[in-house]
Amino acid sequence: MSASPGTARGLDGVVAAQTRLSHVDGQNGVLIIGGYELEQIAGRITFEQAAHLLWTGRIPTAEEAAALAAEIAAQRALPAVTLQVVREAAAKGAPPIDALRLACASLSLDLADPNAITPAADLAAAKMLVARFPTIVAAHARFKAGKEPIAPRADLSLAANFLYMLSGEEPDPIVARALDTYWVTVIDHGMNASTFTGRVIASTRSDMVSALTGAIGAMKGPLHGGAPGPVLDMLLDIRTAENAEPWVRAELAAGRRIMGFGHRVYKVRDPRAAVLAKVAEEMGGARMQDRALFDLARSVEKTVLRVLEEVKPGRNLQTNVEFYTALVLQSLGLAPNTFVALFACGRAAGWAAHVIEQHAQDHLIRPQSEYVGPKGLTL
Ligand code: ACO
Repeated sequence: MSASPGTARGLDGVVAAQTRLSHVDGQNGVLIIGGYELEQIAGRITFEQAAHLLWTGRIPTAEEAAALAAEIAAQRALPAVTLQVVREAAAKGAPPIDALRLACASLSLDLADPNAITPAADLAAAKMLVARFPTIVAAHARFKAGKEPIAPRADLSLAANFLYMLSGEEPDPIVARALDTYWVTVIDHGMNASTFTGRVIASTRSDMVSALTGAIGAMKGPLHGGAPGPVLDMLLDIRTAENAEPWVRAELAAGRRIMGFGHRVYKVRDPRAAVLAKVAEEMGGARMQDRALFDLARSVEKTVLRVLEEVKPGRNLQTNVEFYTALVLQSLGLAPNTFVALFACGRAAGWAAHVIEQHAQDHLIRPQSEYVGPKGLTL
């Protein structure tokens, strides 16, 4: 159904809020996070430091960074009720992102005043949620494998501890750093669908846990955060560089989209794809089986871009963040259906920063709709 003039379908191009948190320059392929271009910070500051940047407006000093990391580390363990929710979710076959949504909602039971929306209450809730999201995802993976969860350790970084909770072994520092860089890379991204969802909820003066629970629901769909699992499926299905072209043409002929390509804002290559391609390449250097997948991905990427340009000319469909996310996360040994939940673990810090900002702006977000239904019906 086409929209009437003046109607912004999908709110395309509409500015819904002012933010100091991040800026997506889709024409030039630039992402600014808290004043820094992504390439300046990715791989150079930790995820906890990046969270501090968004929550306070500046990169922390060494002491501040250590204090924040320790504060987050001390809150990693899950309350019994949340662990029970995760156990039930795994038993019922719920995917990790649904387990995260359900468990996130239960975490308000652990707050002294879950409805408080002061800056101090928001920040406390933000730290608690960022600390516990990885614990939820790891516990869910353990339950799914028929094992008991591994208690978090406070002496590891958030990323290293997540990997430790999966296997009980301290991860290779290269692998932990790759996950940390991934989380920094996806920490915030303008007014994307899940962030907008979180801000809409916060704009009603609702609380941090409610906002992040809703944001997880928005992130789940394949048009937003759910793409990297299917990207990996695609690569595994294509198998060899020669198969790429007929595979892509058949998908497009069947009216399907190629996952990991196209973006509402970026009309050039997503800068996050470049950062993660580098991380994936480093991981490939460390592990032989990843190298083969990385080489295949590079070749498939070239083929997809060429075929998309031919079949969908003028749409400027470029590689997006999810394409190389798939490679990085699979090389951590994670199941594809965990990828979107891992994305949420990183984006949680950005969502929380937007909730804090929205509460400070205190303005209800309430767009209008164009009514296209019947009128004047009578019973
Ligand atoms: N493969 C094939 N065709 C595509 C793709 C794709 N990946 N993306 C867009 N198109 C086509 C559409 O079919 C449409 O074609 P048409 O003009 O012939 O109708 C045209 O390009 C424009 O598509 P829209 O849906 O209007 O573009 P929109 O900006 O709404 O879409 C989106 C952005 C949802 C990301 C889309 O590109 C897509 O579905 N990509 C695949 C899924 C994906 O990778 N999602 C992750 C996004 S990144 C993130 O959110 C973290």
